[in-house]
Amino acid sequence: MIPESRKFIRIVTDYLLAEERIIDFNIYTKPPNSNMPLLLIAANTNVSDVKETLAKKNHGPLFITRESAKKFENFMEDSLDSIIKNRSIPLERKTSVVHDCAKNIIRDIFDDPRSLRNISRAKTVTGNIIDLSLADRQAIRHLLRLGSHDYYTFSHCVNVAVFGIGLWVTISKGDETELHDFALGCILHDVGKSQIVDSILKKPGKLDFEEFEIIKKHPGQGHWLMEKHTSEVTLDVIIHHHEKINGQGYPHGLTRDQISDNAKIATIADVYDALTTNRPYAGARRPLNALTLMKEEMVGHFEQKRFEEFILFLGGRSG
Ligand SMILES: [Fe+2]
Ligand SMILES: [Fe+2]
Repeated sequence: MIPESRKFIRIVTDYLLAEERIIDFNIYTKPPNSNMPLLLIAANTNVSDVKETLAKKNHGPLFITRESAKKFENFMEDSLDSIIKNRSIPLERKTSVVHDCAKNIIRDIFDDPRSLRNISRAKTVTGNIIDLSLADRQAIRHLLRLGSHDYYTFSHCVNVAVFGIGLWVTISKGDETELHDFALGCILHDVGKSQIVDSILKKPGKLDFEEFEIIKKHPGQGHWLMEKHTSEVTLDVIIHHHEKINGQGYPHGLTRDQISDNAKIATIADVYDALTTNRPYAGARRPLNALTLMKEEMVGHFEQKRFEEFILFLGGRSG
C-alpha cells in the first residue's frame, strides 16, 4: 500500500493562475508539523477565488493528488499560450512550464503514438519552444538548464529539440516553417522507440548483436508511425538522425552529400544530449568531455562545420 503522503504531488500555482478559468482538481496544503496534506481549495473553484484564498491564507506548500495529475497537466497545457504571452511572468517560469508540458506530451505520444491529438499537441508545444527561443535567446539557456541529467526518454526528446533549435537559429537558416517542421522532427526523433520493449530499451549492460539490430529499427518505425501526419522535413529528421557522414550510420548508410543539413544538426544534438546525461549503461559526461569525445573518437560521424558551430553555440549560451 502507498503511504498517504506519497499519494500527493507538490505543485507551484502562482504562474498557472494567469487566466480566468475553473480548476477541476482539489488543491491541498500541509499544515506545519503535519505530514498529511489537508484540503485547501476544492475542485470547481473559479481561478479568481483560488487566488483570493491563496492570498488570504498563510498556506504552506501546495499539493494535488496523484489521481488528479492528468487534470493538472491539462490545465497547465491549456494555460500555456496565455502564460507565454503574459509579460509579467518571468522567462524562467515560462520555460519551466513549457518544458514540463513538452515532457508530458512526449510521454503521451510514446503511450499512444497514433493519437492525432497527441501529434497536434506536440506541434503546438514545439511552436511554443520556438516562439520563446526566438523572442529571447536566454530562453534556450533556461530550457537547457531544465533538461534532466538523467536519460529519461521524454526529457531527452525535449533536449534534442532545444539543442537543435539553438543550433538551427544560431546558423540562421531562415525559413520559419522549416524550423517548425525540423523542431517537430527533433522532438519526435526517437518516437520509434515506443515500439521497442523496455528490456532492450532500458538494458543496463551492452546490447548484443540482435538487440542492437532491434534498436536500429527505431528511425524507420518512427517514420512509419508519423508518415501520414507530419511533413517531409519532419520525417527526414526522424528517419535520418542516426546517419553518419562516413556512410556507417543507419538505417540507410547515407553519406555526407546524401544527408540533409537538418538531419546533420539533429544528429549532433542527439549525440551530445545522450553523452551529457546518465543512461542505463553510461554515466553523464561533462560538456567539455562530451565535445572532446565527439571530436576525437567519433571522426566521420558529423559534419565538421556544423559541429564547430555547435561548439560556438554552446559557448555562447553559457556566457
Ligand atoms: Fe535515436
Ligand atoms: Fe535520441
